[in-house]
Amino acid sequence: MNILVTGGAGFIGSHTLIELYNAGHTAVVVDNLANSNPAVLQRVAEIIGVKEIPFYKTDIRDREGLERIFSTHRFDACIHFAGLKAVGESVEKPWEYYENNIGGTLTLVEVMRKHGCKNIIFSSSATIYGDPAEIPITENCPKGQCTNPYGWTKSMLEQVLMDIQKADGEWNVVLLRYFNPVGAHPSGRIGENPNGIPNNLMPYITQVAVGKRKELGVFGNDYPTPDGTGVRDYIHVVDLAAAHVAAMRAIERRCGVGIYNIGTGHGYSVLDMVNAFVRVNHVDIPYSIKPRRAGDIATCYCDPAKALSELGWQAHCTIDDMVRDSWNWQRQNPDGYPEE
Ligand code: NAD
Ligand code: WQD
Repeated sequence: MNILVTGGAGFIGSHTLIELYNAGHTAVVVDNLANSNPAVLQRVAEIIGVKEIPFYKTDIRDREGLERIFSTHRFDACIHFAGLKAVGESVEKPWEYYENNIGGTLTLVEVMRKHGCKNIIFSSSATIYGDPAEIPITENCPKGQCTNPYGWTKSMLEQVLMDIQKADGEWNVVLLRYFNPVGAHPSGRIGENPNGIPNNLMPYITQVAVGKRKELGVFGNDYPTPDGTGVRDYIHVVDLAAAHVAAMRAIERRCGVGIYNIGTGHGYSVLDMVNAFVRVNHVDIPYSIKPRRAGDIATCYCDPAKALSELGWQAHCTIDDMVRDSWNWQRQNPDGYPEE
């Protein structure tokens, strides 16, 4: 299939491009580079062994820009990663998050529909469960109260896409609810490259390891978890990327709406992650206990059985693979991608 990948220069999109090409698909990337660097696409092309990945530096809110792309290429489906994703920033700038994530998706869907492309895989998030009503979280767990505008954009966009599919059965909509993506391509050529101080645990750990930050702050050790620190379902980004290939097969089978948790089903605490990083990579990670972070929950991990039974997908990488590949990327690229 020929696939439009919005946000394809980003962390998850770039890894997904590799899995798509390995599975025999082709892709065209649309990204405004708001949170990414074009160097990533050259590296992806090198890993895949192609000259280049077709790329448009275009904002998905730019209707005319999208029109031109859809007039040049014929797409069988879209994998829609493009969006802003910093939870804390979304509290400070709610309008910007609603406008970019919801406005952008509405424009994208409008242009897709006009050009007869009615297959979409959407990057949703475990955050839509809020403080989950059940652990492990199945897809039947009710959606919860999000603690930030970012989470609401995901929750609302799920509803928007389901309603569009309900009104027009030609659509196939797959909502993938990612848990906590970490790791990097084993080559170490591409990986997560946050701007400024990392919000997420793994890039913070790797920046401490490489000497860019003094120590990790562990946000709370008084949660009702085995060691008191927060428990999450970390998933290797290469496993996560492969889930999109499996979801594309569901689209080829005309699945209608499909909703899937994409995690490993294992919960690891903050200190489990730190200890695994130190054990596998032989690097010290100094840390100190800090107060809880606003909006955090104690425990979040999924039951990934539905993705296995319906998509034939499951995660294969271990926690050791995750910490090894995260470090391999950071060690080889202490300052991320080179600036243009
Ligand atoms: P990322 O920021 O690395 O990638 C997103 C890409 O979208 C970036 O390259 C950015 O430049 C681009 N983009 C943003 N707004 C755009 C716009 N208006 N037009 C065109 N391009 C635009 O993030 P990621 O970690 O790769 O996440 C990909 C998707 O998965 C996002 O939708 C994110 O919300 C979702 N998600 C991420 C996580 C996570 O922890 N990384 C977890 C759950 C869901
Ligand atoms: C993991 C654990 C922290 C940083 C977020 C979004 C979610 C999704 C994934 C997009 C928690 C602890 C963290 C640090 C720490 N993104 N921690 N020190 O909060 O589970 O999920 O990213 O959809 O929507 O909310 O991930 O990596 O920020 O935190 O102790 O410096 O690590 O308290 O227990 P989170 P995270």
